[in-house]
Amino acid sequence: MKLISGTANEPLARGIAEFLDVPLTSVEIERFRDQEIFAKINENVRGEDIFLIQPTSAPANDHLMELLILIDALVRASAQRITAVIPYYGYARQDRKTGGRTPISAKLVANLISKAGAHRVLTADLHAGQIQGFFDIPTDNLFGQPVFVTDIKERFSKKERDSLLFVSPDTGGVVRTRSIAKKFGADIAIIDKRRPKAGESEVMNIIGDVAGRTCILYDDIIDSGGTICKAAKALKDQGANSVSAYITHGVLSDPAVESITKSELTEVVISDSIAQPQKVKDCDKIREVSISTLMGEAIRRIANDESVSKLFG
Ligand code: R5P
Repeated sequence: MKLISGTANEPLARGIAEFLDVPLTSVEIERFRDQEIFAKINENVRGEDIFLIQPTSAPANDHLMELLILIDALVRASAQRITAVIPYYGYARQDRKTGGRTPISAKLVANLISKAGAHRVLTADLHAGQIQGFFDIPTDNLFGQPVFVTDIKERFSKKERDSLLFVSPDTGGVVRTRSIAKKFGADIAIIDKRRPKAGESEVMNIIGDVAGRTCILYDDIIDSGGTICKAAKALKDQGANSVSAYITHGVLSDPAVESITKSELTEVVISDSIAQPQKVKDCDKIREVSISTLMGEAIRRIANDESVSKLFG
């Protein structure tokens, strides 16, 4: 097995490499003067089982292109099998036609990755389960849930855990929220969210009784932070004791950090599927937990032809 990292999330790649006790293969990624990407794999990869780690986070177009170019380099270097390890799959939110003359970008990106020559994909908490089916190559979609369950057990007192209420910030996240709530035998509530336009959200109603409860908002993506901050305010207005959020992918576009800092949220816990700038690391209300062990174990299982689903019981 060989592990290769693009430039999108080297700390996570190093964590995975450490868990697997496999060094990262040396690659050179540079820019031509006009910003085109130049890539070179510095070691022989002929006949190797390659795991190429590169989330397609912001700048999404650059990171995606880098992923495609690295896959192409590996194909041409006669790698035996290439698994694109994409901890955060960008462009996932355009997963269906939302109106006339709109693209299905999640499908287009899946086509690009397959066409470039990847044999498999390993990803985590896809925005919508059906995106797995957009790939005609084997695709494993991991869940950040076990990492979050462990963290919640460690961070929340017995008293708080007895009053836990998991809240889905929109109707699309109900299945995901119910699944984590089941691990604690807890109830769920649902926010009826509307998007008047892309990037803006509005809380219409809360379905469920939140008064006196320790609320945990559970979502796959936090981007501008609008959804979560508005949901936290609505929950507090209806008498919630405290509101925290557990979210797999910290996209955190401006002004997310400022909005979270000023919000009613006690804490926002994100995974390290996306590398974060210093500004996020310095924010007292945002905490990162690592999915490197989870991803590393999935890679080990894929390499050894073992079950990946067993990881989730
Ligand atoms: C939407 O369906 C997603 O699950 C997230 O709720 C959304 O992307 C969050 O966006 P924002 O943080 O900009 O409100």
